[in-house]
Amino acid sequence: VGGGGGRYRHWTNFMLSIREHCKGPLNQEKRIRVSQPLTRGPSAFIPEKEVMQANGLNERTNLLVEEYSTSGRLDNITQVMSLHSQYLESFLRSQFYMLRMDGPLPLPYRHYIAIMAAARHQCSYLVNMHVDEFLKTGGIAEWLNGLEYIPQRLKNLNEINKLLAHRPWLITKEHIQKLVKTGENNWSLPELVHAVVLLAHYHALASFVFGSGINPERDPDTSNGFRLIAVNKFCVCDLANDNNIENASLTSSNFGFVDSLSELEALMERMKRLQEEKEEEEASQEEMATRFEKEKKESLLVVTGADTFCSSVPNAAFDDEIVSTSDVSRYVEDPGFGYKDFARRGEEHLPTFRAQDYTWENHGFSLVNRLYSDIGHLLDEKFRMVYNLTYNTMATHEGVDTTMLRRALFNYVHCMFGIRYDDYDYGEVNQLLERSLKVYIKTVTCYPERTTKRMYDSYWRQFKHSEKVHVNLLLMEARMQAELLYALRAITRHLT
Ligand SMILES: *[C@@H]1O[C@H](CO)[C@@H](O)[C@H](O)[C@H]1NC(C)=O
Ligand SMILES: *[C@@H]1O[C@H](CO)[C@@H](O)[C@H](O)[C@H]1NC(C)=O
Ligand SMILES: *[C@@H]1O[C@H](CO)[C@@H](O)[C@H](O)[C@H]1NC(C)=O
Ligand SMILES: *[C@@H]1O[C@H](CO)[C@@H](O)[C@H](O)[C@H]1NC(C)=O
Repeated sequence: VGGGGGRYRHWTNFMLSIREHCKGPLNQEKRIRVSQPLTRGPSAFIPEKEVMQANGLNERTNLLVEEYSTSGRLDNITQVMSLHSQYLESFLRSQFYMLRMDGPLPLPYRHYIAIMAAARHQCSYLVNMHVDEFLKTGGIAEWLNGLEYIPQRLKNLNEINKLLAHRPWLITKEHIQKLVKTGENNWSLPELVHAVVLLAHYHALASFVFGSGINPERDPDTSNGFRLIAVNKFCVCDLANDNNIENASLTSSNFGFVDSLSELEALMERMKRLQEEKEEEEASQEEMATRFEKEKKESLLVVTGADTFCSSVPNAAFDDEIVSTSDVSRYVEDPGFGYKDFARRGEEHLPTFRAQDYTWENHGFSLVNRLYSDIGHLLDEKFRMVYNLTYNTMATHEGVDTTMLRRALFNYVHCMFGIRYDDYDYGEVNQLLERSLKVYIKTVTCYPERTTKRMYDSYWRQFKHSEKVHVNLLLMEARMQAELLYALRAITRHLT
């Protein structure tokens, strides 16, 4: 495989910059704790043998990779996803379609857009992967020097990339108009839709990469000690964060400090009770609306470590430093813009998007399918697949109907983006998703780059890794759909 040397070089620079950066706030003791050996294999969070067992049984995965993988090899993302091979097929098919099949955008553009999207979350795994693909598909190497080197037309996507990634509710028809307006660097609507689908796909995939602790290419120079940084470059500061989170979750948890087994039993019990209550009485429309607003407001306040992280260094300076030294920063404009500032500045107004006014099924699907043919079907299949996927198990229990739990996870992600389903009782979210799980969900969906193994480990301690990967798939797809809904609604408004 070509390009390896370049990648290692980038990687080394990146690692050096992290070490450099981390000298300040770190003391020796913490450094030692960070350097604990990691789980080898495709994920830093999941023991290698668990993933390998699944793969060993699964020749089908290999066939899928041969057919649909752009790189032609079984990368670490695919290996982890193959814990859910039915889903994997939908995923690979839609990804292959947007990267390789006939479509409005030239191939190198597609990969460059993937790079721009992944870079918003500093996801060097995806950036490196698409740097290779960009070159292989005939992309101009100079563009890889950064955003200043790309054509204005591509540069014009920066704004929508940034909004989609962090605050999609701010996207208006004016943003769309600006891009498609007749002129030198105008985008056609089909091209723009292709770009938006790619952006949303890669933002969401970055969530999956960090949320599942996907291991990057091994760097020979830093074979031990600092590899955790490869997964999560904020790791050195995360120890402090994790403590805060842990303390927060211990003190404010509704359930107190219970052992993990009774945690599971309690969750099952609550599911049962909710089911019974549902059959008895329904809350009024007003009450349902109030519950949504309450959940939405609370979701903004869920501490993810973003507010406390590296508290010895002012955040702005910290961000700047990371950005000016890291390798992926060259693909990012306005790096300080994020979900975090939005909530931190006390600007807690997140407008409510009524799902029934613009649904994926009735509106988004047909628009996207019309402008970029067939992608709607592929995405639709993938959304349904992840939502419906079940093995009817919860940890050690079998024969469980997990619909309620899957719905709570999906709707909670949409809730954090302001999207409300008026037939859903958001009281369920509060009953079903424990505090540590909410912390994990918010981190993975809003600032995935801050996910740590400890966050991953601290929720649902009795559950299997494959079940946690399933959670991640739900979060990823819910996030992607939320971004698409906002972007497509703006396009519809532009058209009408
Ligand atoms: C951009 O606008 C020009 C007119 O200035 C038009 O001919 C062209 O088709 C447009 N390009 C796209 C991609 O829509
Ligand atoms: C997958 O992770 C392993 C570390 O366990 C690493 O050696 C390998 O290079 C990674 N593969 C890819 C394609 O990134
Ligand atoms: C968390 O709580 C422990 C024990 O109460 C305390 O020692 C530690 O300093 C706390 N950590 C943070 C970051 O507040
Ligand atoms: C999803 O599951 C529901 C209920 O189990 C079923 O009615 C529906 O047909 C399923 N949809 C798909 C696409 O599998």
